[in-house]
Amino acid sequence: MADLLELQQLSEVIAREAGAVLLTRLHEVRTDVATKSSLTDMVSDVDRESEALIVSRILAVRPDDGILGEEGSARDGTSGIRWVIDPLDGTTNYLYRRGDFCVSIGVEVDGALAAGVVFDPSRDELFSAARGHGATLNGRAVAVSNVTTLGQALTGTGFGYDKDVRRAQGQVAARIVPIVRDLRRAGSAALDLCAVACGRLDAYYESGLNPWDMAAGRVIIEEAGGRTEFVDVPGERLTLVAANPVLWRQLSARLQTT
Ligand code: IPD
Ligand code: CA
Ligand code: CA
Repeated sequence: MADLLELQQLSEVIAREAGAVLLTRLHEVRTDVATKSSLTDMVSDVDRESEALIVSRILAVRPDDGILGEEGSARDGTSGIRWVIDPLDGTTNYLYRRGDFCVSIGVEVDGALAAGVVFDPSRDELFSAARGHGATLNGRAVAVSNVTTLGQALTGTGFGYDKDVRRAQGQVAARIVPIVRDLRRAGSAALDLCAVACGRLDAYYESGLNPWDMAAGRVIIEEAGGRTEFVDVPGERLTLVAANPVLWRQLSARLQTT
């Protein structure tokens, strides 16, 4: 049996270490920025350095575990444990030296999300959760908000890197913005999920997320009393919706109505 608290603690130490690298390199003049899937999808040496550090720290103590990292790390393990890593979530913010970037590390046990840590080095905030043990921010328990009316729900969302995907997301956002308190696009899915977990957002939705964007954040929200599940939105990729369970149903229903 995997010791979840041990895995959580290891994730915390590693996320802090990787976050320190991000902060140290934040103000460098960048000559290393490349693009991935589109001109808007940037990656730098810092993304890769952070991932290399995280993977080496994990494998040093857990050589039998599997890994899935955004910047290409992928290995099958034999232990039943897999680490799902976004070494720098909010790359665009980072490269523009804006806040709202983080390290996100999720842990799956036998294919199910079991622990997650998101570290925001700019604010020195560590969100952390292990299944059955609650969610914390810098060691203090957090909970989702109790807003149950869409009109009072400060809602977050995000946009992908593909222009056709963005066009569809913009159309959905145009339907949602008139019926919620306001719509935020902070630029880091992992931090958006943590914002829901601690009541800084009432709800969040985004289509087309990758596993590393959401692995840690989903455990954190669920352990904070929220619900995170996918819904089919017409014309969209699968959409993750996160909120307290009452608001989740309302937002999901509105997203699915054209
Ligand atoms: C992106 C951010 C962004 C979200 C995108 C993600 P990256 O991740 O989380 O907020 O809207 O869908 O791809 O590229 O900064 O790691
Ligand atoms: Ca990401
Ligand atoms: Ca990333």
